[in-house]
Amino acid sequence: MRVIVCNDYEEMSLRAAKLVASQIILKPNCVLGLAKGSTPIGLYDNLVKMYEEGEIDFSDVTSFNLDEYYPLSPDNDQSYRYFMNKHLFDRVNIDIKRTHVPNGLAEDTDAECLRYEGMINAVGGVDLQILGIGQNGHIGFNEPDANLNTITHLTDLTKSTIDANSRFFEKREDVPTKAITMGMASILKSKKIVLLASGRSKAAVVAELLKESINTNVPATLLNVHNDVVLICDKEAYAGMSLGIDIGGTSVKFGVVDGLNEIVYKDSIPTEKNCSDAEIIDSIADKCAEIATKFPISSVGVGTPGLINYETKTVSASNLPFKNTPLVKMLEKKLRLPVFINNDANCAALGEATSGVGKDVKNMVMVTLGTGIGGGIIIDKKIYLGRGEAGEIGHMCIEADGKKCACGAVGCWERYASATALIEMTKEAAEKEPDSLLAKVVAKNGADGKAVFEAIEKGCGVGKAVLDKYLNYLAVGIKNIVNVFSPELIVISGGLSEAGEALAAPLKEKLGSNVDIQISALGNDAGIIGAALLCRV
Ligand code: GLP
Repeated sequence: MRVIVCNDYEEMSLRAAKLVASQIILKPNCVLGLAKGSTPIGLYDNLVKMYEEGEIDFSDVTSFNLDEYYPLSPDNDQSYRYFMNKHLFDRVNIDIKRTHVPNGLAEDTDAECLRYEGMINAVGGVDLQILGIGQNGHIGFNEPDANLNTITHLTDLTKSTIDANSRFFEKREDVPTKAITMGMASILKSKKIVLLASGRSKAAVVAELLKESINTNVPATLLNVHNDVVLICDKEAYAGMSLGIDIGGTSVKFGVVDGLNEIVYKDSIPTEKNCSDAEIIDSIADKCAEIATKFPISSVGVGTPGLINYETKTVSASNLPFKNTPLVKMLEKKLRLPVFINNDANCAALGEATSGVGKDVKNMVMVTLGTGIGGGIIIDKKIYLGRGEAGEIGHMCIEADGKKCACGAVGCWERYASATALIEMTKEAAEKEPDSLLAKVVAKNGADGKAVFEAIEKGCGVGKAVLDKYLNYLAVGIKNIVNVFSPELIVISGGLSEAGEALAAPLKEKLGSNVDIQISALGNDAGIIGAALLCRV
């Protein structure tokens, strides 16, 4: 089953309408299978618009609707015939004689079912079938059952369907308890099937569908045997949860991310370093497998430090036992799920750009101030990789004959503007000015990234000078980034971002109003969310 996840109902309706329109353009005398429900209304509205704009012509189209309540007159405003006339047939140039809906007043229902099935066969079957899905997994009115009826038949509606459909009737007692519906075989013999699902209420059933197993208690899962089905759904209905993994130096963090890009479950294991790559991957896979028993996981995304070869999907990292490790292959083999990989800083940037402070911008750069300086470049909501290593902003040179960096080069930005650099400056200043408040804070708590901010809060001039010098370096690098990328937003993350406004406010002052700077909203969760979202970009 092909899955298209749309941002919202409008996008879902338009995508579906474009598919139906292509079918009509390719085969003007095609047979469409149509569905009633609140879900396809937007699709029908789009088709009407396309018809009005002269893009499609319904004059040779034949249609068969999936189902009709029984007994119910076609004139009743709750009948499926009435619905179809109102939302589509009366608004386009379809020949009403070629539109078919089961007869909800048939005296002999067996004969009506045979007649209906016969008519579908007589025209050579449905070319493109549109389906909605009931909250209990029914399609048409094929209700959950140990034995599903294959062809058009009269069926009893389940309590849950009557409950769900009672919203359209004045009183629950008015909801018909029976219906005539195409059977599973009638539906499955369609050449193409487009299944629509929208809203949170469909998330559980869509999750079942995505497990790709077949279960007659969720009739829609039978669509998994058809070779041309596309599920078009909005984010709320897409419960194909994704597992994001953020591999760090001390722990490996796991998070299940749902269709709304929210973490619904978190877990972690300590990072084992004194072991082989196979052992560390085994322990990651074990945790994934455990989580997958609790959630309908459809893909796994991994954010890792180190160098990634995106062609071979191998990783080498100096702080971890990874040396050309085929991490993706190894995990896929163990989990039997698609696995995606990217650099951890890139994942954090993607997470922030999707669910954090960057959710309203298209282009942003994330600057992670930690042991070094990491970066992630987002262009048009996607990670920019260049040849594979773009985003290594910590290693741009800001001092041609500057300090030596661990990477082998000199003058790298991270030697001057990382948290490590701020700590170095703090130590130096405390030693040089032993009577300062900064020196006292350092003597009490040690020289960490917070010391300078604590000293400034107490009114320390030495601390202020240290931060000012540090911010000059930080601002130089950010200005370079802005000159190259002109992003809408720079997001500051990493350990130092915990200083919040005490860091952001004076930095903003140095950069001027042209640069929008914000502190990460998601903190450590950004990496997990971004990793989980690698499957969608
Ligand atoms: C009815 C129809 C189905 C439809 C379902 C969901 O039960 N028989 O064909 O898919 O409702 O409706 P909605 O799209 O309003 O959620």
